[in-house]
Amino acid sequence: MSRQSVISLDKTKRCSMYKIAIIPGDGTGPEVVREGLKVLNAAAKKFGFKYETKEFDFSGQRYLKTGKLVGDSDVAELKKYDVIYLGAVGDPDVKPGIIETGVLLKLRFALDQYINLRPVKLYNSNFCPLKDKKPEDIDFVVVRENSEGLYKGMGEFKDKGTANEVATQISYNTRKGVERCIRYAFEYTRKRNKRKKLTLCGKTNVLTFAWDLWQRTFNEVAKEYPDVTTDYAHVDATTMWFVKNPEWFDVIVTDNMFGDIITDLGAMIQGGMGIAAGGNINPQGVSMFEPIGGSAPKYTGKNVINPLAAICAAAMMLENLGEVKAAQAIENAVIKLVSGEIKSLAAGKMGYSTTEIGDLVVKNL
Ligand code: IPM
Ligand code: MN
Repeated sequence: MSRQSVISLDKTKRCSMYKIAIIPGDGTGPEVVREGLKVLNAAAKKFGFKYETKEFDFSGQRYLKTGKLVGDSDVAELKKYDVIYLGAVGDPDVKPGIIETGVLLKLRFALDQYINLRPVKLYNSNFCPLKDKKPEDIDFVVVRENSEGLYKGMGEFKDKGTANEVATQISYNTRKGVERCIRYAFEYTRKRNKRKKLTLCGKTNVLTFAWDLWQRTFNEVAKEYPDVTTDYAHVDATTMWFVKNPEWFDVIVTDNMFGDIITDLGAMIQGGMGIAAGGNINPQGVSMFEPIGGSAPKYTGKNVINPLAAICAAAMMLENLGEVKAAQAIENAVIKLVSGEIKSLAAGKMGYSTTEIGDLVVKNL
């Protein structure tokens, strides 16, 4: 088996002027992005870095007006940026799937952002739905494969609309795609240097083709990381452990579909969608950072949505750019707010408006 080269996670990108592409998107996306940019601006002043932004209006409304999604020339333009900062996509006026595949998945695939990195970190036990769990119990990271699996869009209808209709949806897993994801996860676990434990989350007992490939690749790559402890959990059991013993996890690596599902549960145990951030990472290219909750249409324009997930996504973006101190400072400012002033992390119940939360994070910075 030919070996892939080791992925470097150490960013030495720091430069004099970062180019950041902004995609506010749909629903509450623009509102949370505005607060993230407010915090970014304050962090830049404090830590002495500079950046320029350009807004891209990929959204459901633009699609309804122009029929346009993300085209190849848009992708070429975005490749000129250091990072992308995204609010949310999904518009109830557009049939489900069009914006999601035409904007979000299109960007992930076209920019080869093959990792979806989703930290699950509890900042205040008051916001945890689990009994007796403390911040030290819930602090792990999910490395979700972000370019293959069931998301590849492979499949077909046969005899569509008839009584004999068959629909197939194929999980597509390449050795290269699986290996680069697993390698990233091992490197990440080593660099995180917490418990140095990596859990493969799969379904080897039923999905015997895909998960055989994953398990074999995992075992082979593991030999190169003797300092990392490895573990395996079926995906159904993983959801059980998230609730029962989340303290068992350090880093989890899984495929696209399982990663999608378990990270929604992860978001809930860390306090909800209001605080959950993620990064779509291409370690050699342009990465994209986003709050993982959706566009929350029913809260649009009301100034009630929680922007902390978007603010945490901005912190992840800064870390990716090499501005580690600024990233840490934003996280600390969020921790301070979440440990004291804020009543709830849910939209409309925070005791503050969206813009006030942004102001408070700036104040804590
Ligand atoms: C997410 C979302 C997306 C996904 C959708 C909107 C395509 O649920 O980022 O988790 O399934 O990956
Ligand atoms: Mn999801």
